[in-house]
Amino acid sequence: MLGSLVLLCFGFSLLFFLFRTRRPKNFPPGPLPVPIFGNLLQLNLRNPIEDLEKLSEHYGKIYSIYIGNKPAVVLNGLHAMKEALVTQSVEFAGRPQDLMVNHISGSKGVILADYGPSWRKHRRFALMSLRNFGLGTRSMEERILGETLYISLCLERSVGKSMDPQCLFYNAACNIICSIIYGSRYEYENEYFQAMITTMEENSKMANGPWAMIYDAVPLFRNLPLPFQRGFQGYSSVREHILGIVAQHEKTWVAKETRHLIDCYLNEMEKQGDSDICFDKSQMVVLLMDLLFAGSDTTSNTLRTALLYVMTHPHVQERCQKEIDEVLGEKEQASFEDRHMMPYTQAMIHEAQRVADTVPLGVFHATTKDTRLMGYDIPKGTLIIPNLSSVLNEESQWKFPHDFNPSNFLNDQGEFVKPEAFMPFSAGRRACLGEGLARMELFLILVTLLRRFKFVWPEDAGVPDYTPVFGITQAPKPYRLGVRLREKPGE
Ligand code: HEM
Ligand SMILES: *[C@@H]1O[C@H](CO)[C@@H](O)[C@H](O)[C@H]1NC(C)=O
Repeated sequence: MLGSLVLLCFGFSLLFFLFRTRRPKNFPPGPLPVPIFGNLLQLNLRNPIEDLEKLSEHYGKIYSIYIGNKPAVVLNGLHAMKEALVTQSVEFAGRPQDLMVNHISGSKGVILADYGPSWRKHRRFALMSLRNFGLGTRSMEERILGETLYISLCLERSVGKSMDPQCLFYNAACNIICSIIYGSRYEYENEYFQAMITTMEENSKMANGPWAMIYDAVPLFRNLPLPFQRGFQGYSSVREHILGIVAQHEKTWVAKETRHLIDCYLNEMEKQGDSDICFDKSQMVVLLMDLLFAGSDTTSNTLRTALLYVMTHPHVQERCQKEIDEVLGEKEQASFEDRHMMPYTQAMIHEAQRVADTVPLGVFHATTKDTRLMGYDIPKGTLIIPNLSSVLNEESQWKFPHDFNPSNFLNDQGEFVKPEAFMPFSAGRRACLGEGLARMELFLILVTLLRRFKFVWPEDAGVPDYTPVFGITQAPKPYRLGVRLREKPGE
C-alpha cells in the first residue's frame, strides 16, 4: 500500500518535472500555470469571458496565460494592439501551428497558413481576384444587389408578422461568396446547400468549443476517440463537397477565362513554373473553404446585430431612412458610391460593427522572431491573442463606449469620421482580406432593406437582450424580426 503510494507520488513528480511550465525571462505576467493543463483548469471552458475579464483587470494591457504547456500573450487596448500588429507587423504576422484548426486544415490556404511565401502568394491572389471581380466596379455590386433581392423577397413573406433572420442572412452571405468562387448561387431551400451550411456551422461550434481547447492544450489526448474527432469528419465532408464543385468547373475551364475564382486559380496553376510550385489543388480547396468560412458567419452575424439595434432604436432607424430616401430619390438601386452622401447611415453601420464585436479575440497570431513589446521580451513562436473587443470598447477611445450611438462616428459637423480604434477587421499584414467586400455587403444590404422595410421589435418579445453569444465569431442571441412595409414617401 505504502509502496504504491510512493510510486504514485514519484510518478506525479516525474510528470510534473517533465511537463513543467516555465515562463520565459521578462515575459508578460500572468496567473501561475499547472503542469500539462496550463491555466485551462482555472477557466470556465464554456464561457471563459468572465474569468479572462478578471485576469485583464488584474494584469492590465498585456498579460500571459498558458494553454497547456504553450504560453500565450493577450493584447488589450489600442496602444498594445498598434505596437504589435502595425508597428511590428512582420514580427507579429505568424499563425500558431499546433492547434486543432491547423491539424484540420493542414495549415494551407490563407487564414491559418504561417507567415511565408505560400501565405503571401495566396493572400495576394485572393485580394487581386476580389478586386478583378469588381470591388470598386459594378460587377461585385451587382452580385450583392442580386442576392439582396432574394432577401427582400423572403422578408416580404413576413410582412405584418415576424421572422427569425438567422438562416436567411447566413444563406445570403454564403451565396455571395459562392457567386464569387464559382459563379452560382443556391436557392435557400436547396438541400445540398443546407447540408453544407449545417456542417459549416457545426464545425465552427466545434472549433469554438471546450473540446477544441482541450485538444489544443493537451496533446496527450489528441488520438483518443473524443468528440473533437467530429470536427475532422465535418471538415472533410465540406472538403469533399468543394472538391466536387472544383472538378465540375475544371471540365468547362478555358485557359485565361475568368468567370470566377476557380477559373483564376486554375490559370495561376497553369502559369507557375515547375520550380516553385505554390498553387495546387489541395491549397485551392482550403483557400475556397477559408473564404466561405471567413465570409459567411462574420457578415451575417454583423447584419443581424445591425438589425437588432435599428429595430430597437426607432429614432436611429428613422434617421437612416430619411437620409436614404433623400439621397436615393427615384433611383432604382443603391450603389456603394452613395455612402459618401450618407454620413449618418455610414455611422450607424460602423457603430453596429463596433457593438457587434464579431471576432472578439481576433484570429490568433504568432511571433515570427524574438521581439520586444511594451518592455517585455517575447520569444519567436509565441501565441498572440489580439483582444479586438478591448479596442472596440476601450473607454478612452470612444465618446459613448457602452451605448449603441452612431455619434461615435460623427464629428460636430455631422460628418462621418472613423476613429483609429475601429478595428473589427484587425490591423496590419494579417488584417481581414475581405474587408472591402464586407463593407460593400453591409452597406448595400442594409440600405436596400431599410429603404423598403420598417423593422419593429415584436410586442410579445419582452425586453431585448443585447448580450452576444460568445465564440470565435460572436452572434446576437436569436431574436424575431418584426417586418412591415414602409409607406413610400408621398403616398
Ligand atoms: C463583417 C465581416 C467580417 C469581419 C468582422 C472580419 C474580421 C476578420 C478578422 C478580425 C480577421 C483576423 C485578422 C488577423 O488575423 O489579425 C479576418 C481575417 C480574414 N478574413 Fe475577415 N472578416 C469579415 C468578412 C470577411 C469576408 C467577407 C471574407 C471573404 C472574402 C473574409 C476573409 C478573411 C480572410 C481570408 C482572413 C485571413 C487573412 C490572413 O490570415 O491573411 N472576411 N477577418
Ligand atoms: C478582452 O477585452 C474585453 C473588454 O475590455 C474584456 O472584457 C475581456 O475579458 C478581454 N479578454 C481577454 C482574453 O483578456
